[in-house]
Amino acid sequence: MNNFQFKNPVKIIFGKETIANVADEIPKDANVLLLYGGGSIKKNGVYNQVKDALKEYSITEFGGIPANPEYEVLLEALQVIKDNDINYLLAVGGGSVIDGTKFLSAAALYTGDTPWDILKNSIRTEVGMPFGTVLTLPATGSEMNSGAVITRRETKEKLGMGGPGLFPQFSILDPRVISSIPQRQLANGIADAFTHVLEQYMTYSVGALLQDRFAESVLQTLLEVAPKVLKDPTDYEAISNYMWSCTMALNGLLMQGVPTDWAVHAIGHELTALYGIDHARTLAIIAPSHYEYNFETKKDKLAQYAERIWNVTEGTLEEKARIGIEKTESFYKGLGIDTKLSDYTSEYEGTAETIANRFKERGWTGLGEHKSITPEKVEEIVKMSY
Ligand code: NZQ
Ligand code: ZN
Repeated sequence: MNNFQFKNPVKIIFGKETIANVADEIPKDANVLLLYGGGSIKKNGVYNQVKDALKEYSITEFGGIPANPEYEVLLEALQVIKDNDINYLLAVGGGSVIDGTKFLSAAALYTGDTPWDILKNSIRTEVGMPFGTVLTLPATGSEMNSGAVITRRETKEKLGMGGPGLFPQFSILDPRVISSIPQRQLANGIADAFTHVLEQYMTYSVGALLQDRFAESVLQTLLEVAPKVLKDPTDYEAISNYMWSCTMALNGLLMQGVPTDWAVHAIGHELTALYGIDHARTLAIIAPSHYEYNFETKKDKLAQYAERIWNVTEGTLEEKARIGIEKTESFYKGLGIDTKLSDYTSEYEGTAETIANRFKERGWTGLGEHKSITPEKVEEIVKMSY
């Protein structure tokens, strides 16, 4: 196992009827900006629950943060923060609203010229404006990590940011918010969380036995509950396990002491930036080709995954590893998620070159657990995904 240091300060408040607890977590004299997305919280009652709980507070609101939170929209929210002397942010939504709030937490205290530099120059945020979250969509793990991904429409860029100052102070996870999520978003969330685990597992073994089994337990739980969640999003046992699995998939625990990959996400983000494809779907497009392309360096872990997750007992290590890739692709397809870029756009020619050039320009010359995936290799992987 590799050396590690691990600190995750997020207070998780989990379970039925926990949204009312929001008032116990925010200082009474705070000047709060409540941030939300396109309005789902007004239809499913979450907005009313939050407003009821915060009756005594001074609250300003900012709605309309779109999926794949946009820099341009967030700048409007930043102006609201400045105009109203806001000193506490409350995100009520999925990964997009929470990530947008993290950007605002950083940007509100940023003293440089333009907040885009935080993303462009990978400036880590050591201290941000304090914020909490009420999660409405399990998927990204953003509610318990310190990362965010922000999109800039005018340049079709989607870049990550983070730092120890961007952990939420608290996150409220009431699994019953899941009942109003459309099937498409449920499927996306399952695929995203599953792939988060793969990014931290499908590398090479460093003898981190417990870490491997933590990762495998999240995969197994996701596979067990996914069909139940899709069939009946009010099945409390299924949705509570599902919600917690998504959080555990990317709260930092699984990546301790092990190598991590994240190339699938790096490439996938470009597909969202270029074509607006849902985040989870971009992962389903890239992951199978990525594992196929890097078969030699990943085959031991692929075979272990095939054995332990998909109960493959027959065949050589290579045969098991190949079945591992096939099972992963079928898993995405079983969720109704297409796994080829041409399923999403007819104008895919040139995509591989565009992404490879962007990576070259940014100096992203060595992705993956061995830092060996050059832009040239990225180009080949993307072509295999057409
Ligand atoms: O905007 P509203 O009206 O709220 O509707 C949203 C949105 O249309 C809807 N929704 C959310 N909760 C709902 C609901 N509809 C009904 N009932 C509910 N309870 O679902 C749609 C998608 O929401 P969004 O927040 O965009 O989804 P998700 O949570 O999948 O977030 C995706 C974003 O997170 C980033 C992605 O790149 C993408 O921008 N990621 C963030 C990560 C992180 N911070 O750690 C890691 C991930 O890998 C990912 O990159
Ligand atoms: Zn993801």
